[in-house]
Amino acid sequence: MAPPKIVILTGAGISRESGLHTFRDPDGIWARHRIEEVATPEAFARNPALVQGFYNARRAQLRDPAIRPNAAHDALAELDASWPEGRFLLVTQNVDDLHDRAGSRRLLHMHGELAKARCLRCAAISPAPGDLTPESACPECGGTGTLRPHVVWFGEMPIGMERIEAALAECDLFVSIGTSGAVYPAAGFVREVRHRADTLELNLEPSEGSHLFDEARHGPATQLVPAFVRETLARWG
Ligand code: APR
Repeated sequence: MAPPKIVILTGAGISRESGLHTFRDPDGIWARHRIEEVATPEAFARNPALVQGFYNARRAQLRDPAIRPNAAHDALAELDASWPEGRFLLVTQNVDDLHDRAGSRRLLHMHGELAKARCLRCAAISPAPGDLTPESACPECGGTGTLRPHVVWFGEMPIGMERIEAALAECDLFVSIGTSGAVYPAAGFVREVRHRADTLELNLEPSEGSHLFDEARHGPATQLVPAFVRETLARWG
């Protein structure tokens, strides 16, 4: 029997033990910032400098040597490297680069990436210069004041949905890691697959969708994810 086709979804909880805040925990990002001020297209149109500043601060964190992939990111990269072609996809809601730095290859950032900027004039996506300012110039078209964070804001379409839907349509095993299940479309993925795929939630505490999973294990990602990967490789590797 061929190894299962696996789709993994991660959220901010997988990066918590690397030192990055989640969004909805008591010490989370939305406890200190208002979404409508820093994470919508209207907010950017109204006050680009404020929005750029919010993302510049989060991008600066990624340059902090103390912020690096943890055992959960590393375990998923190992699973990716060990799994057959065409039978694995890691979809992350996170805009940090910890999965990339851990070595995950079959990785899709559905909410974009902090490390990248997008040009409002030519749509080019390029590495974000240190800090984005309203005067930053696009390296492709040279336009100035045209760069925005390459991050999906509330009210915008996620990235890669066709590829995600295709993977979900075929998957045999869906694993949700470190996400509260509060934001769609990611929160709805388990509903799309649960009638025909095995579903597993690995989260610090029950999420809004825990009841929809065949199995839910609760604890820190750095413990649950390596154990899940070891178990999966032992069974199928
Ligand atoms: N290990 C595992 N899970 C953890 C850990 C940990 N160490 N710490 C926290 N968690 C869990 C929390 O219990 C919570 O269920 O991670 C989840 C984080 O939930 P949110 O803060 O809502 O983050 P997320 O689900 O990724 O948010 C989804 O919302 O604001 C938007 O675009 C943003 O991508 C984000 C989306």
